[in-house]
Amino acid sequence: MSIESLPSSTRSRLAARVSAVPASGIRKFFDVIATMPDVISLGVGEPDFTTPAQVVQAGIRSLEAGRTHYTSNYGTLELRRGIAENLERRYGASYDPATEVLVTVGASEAVAATMTALVDPGDEVLLHEPSYVAYMPAIVFAGGTTVHVPTRAADGFALDPDEVERRVTARTKVLFLGYPCNPTGAVLPPEALRALADVARRHDLLVVSDEIYDRLVYGGHQHESISALPGMRERTVLIGGFSKAYAMTGWRVGYVCAPRDLLEGIVKIHQYAIMCAPTTAQDAAAVALREAEPDVERMLAEYDRRRRMFVDGLNRIGLPTIEPRGAFYAFPHVGGTGLTSEQFSERLLFEEHVAVVPGDSFGPSGAGHVRACYATSYEQLEEALVRIERFLARL
Ligand SMILES: Cc1ncc(COP(=O)(O)O)c(C=O)c1O
Repeated sequence: MSIESLPSSTRSRLAARVSAVPASGIRKFFDVIATMPDVISLGVGEPDFTTPAQVVQAGIRSLEAGRTHYTSNYGTLELRRGIAENLERRYGASYDPATEVLVTVGASEAVAATMTALVDPGDEVLLHEPSYVAYMPAIVFAGGTTVHVPTRAADGFALDPDEVERRVTARTKVLFLGYPCNPTGAVLPPEALRALADVARRHDLLVVSDEIYDRLVYGGHQHESISALPGMRERTVLIGGFSKAYAMTGWRVGYVCAPRDLLEGIVKIHQYAIMCAPTTAQDAAAVALREAEPDVERMLAEYDRRRRMFVDGLNRIGLPTIEPRGAFYAFPHVGGTGLTSEQFSERLLFEEHVAVVPGDSFGPSGAGHVRACYATSYEQLEEALVRIERFLARL
């Protein structure tokens, strides 16, 4: 239920920080989509693939073995070890699985618990936009103030370290990074990542880095973790998860890694609010890390094939789209149609049954864009292009 739909007597009983966050702009579209047949949904940000079979089997085995109890608040040691080894091997980011890795209920819980643990009322959090819809509410629910740093299509939606530094004040506590970026597909270039690390060190900022799309990077670009840069480990909280790369959205497993003193605070929030991530899902995730690499590579290659066709197609039919280098979203500019993002999305849904998300749901700089997720079949994407082209021709 949205805040707006509550009776006013109820609304006034809610905490001010809850009322301060508008209801999700995306939700309204999903409610409509659910009632329409033959919609091609490019709206939801989740893999169309099902979880690799050996991972599903691991979950079943876990249940059959009677592993139906709580785990440690931190998660199973097996999974924490797997996460730490993976981060060390891929990015050179080193964490002690015993005290510096926490398994969470998706990256979603990791974001919320981290903000609650780090942010005091009045603290400012620097956040690039457009960015994932859950970041700003997590900051506000923790009592913090979001200071937006705009990014623009003309710069490939890259975050400019000078723009970040210009917004640092005595109250700035955290620099929040979400790259590869939902919704723009931007990946931070190595120089920008280093310059952002310099800003964080110079102003003694904490960095919270949501790297859930770390494995979904294309075209020879590489993901780097800011936590592995010199002097950054002690000031970085690294968030990741299994939903995207392993097609495990429904299992709800994510993680947060941080130096021990910071992680202890985050664990405190987690242990009282959540207890532990689901045991079945943790056992499956441990097997995903060990055995599902070929599946990740297969899905990645297929996303890349779709990405190239779909982005070329959008540009061809007249919607300028920068090349997304990571995640699985295209962020075409629709402003040339004379419609706002919301009008475009609404009319496209009702007239051609294609669902996309208005770009300004992700921050003011997303205005004039829409987000289209290409984690759906190649054929559906081809059909979506036919429908969008027909829609454009009618305008
Ligand atoms: C950038 C980003 N972070 C976090 C999440 C949440 O992922 P999870 O399923 O692990 O909670 C999403 C999901 O869309 C996302 O796009």
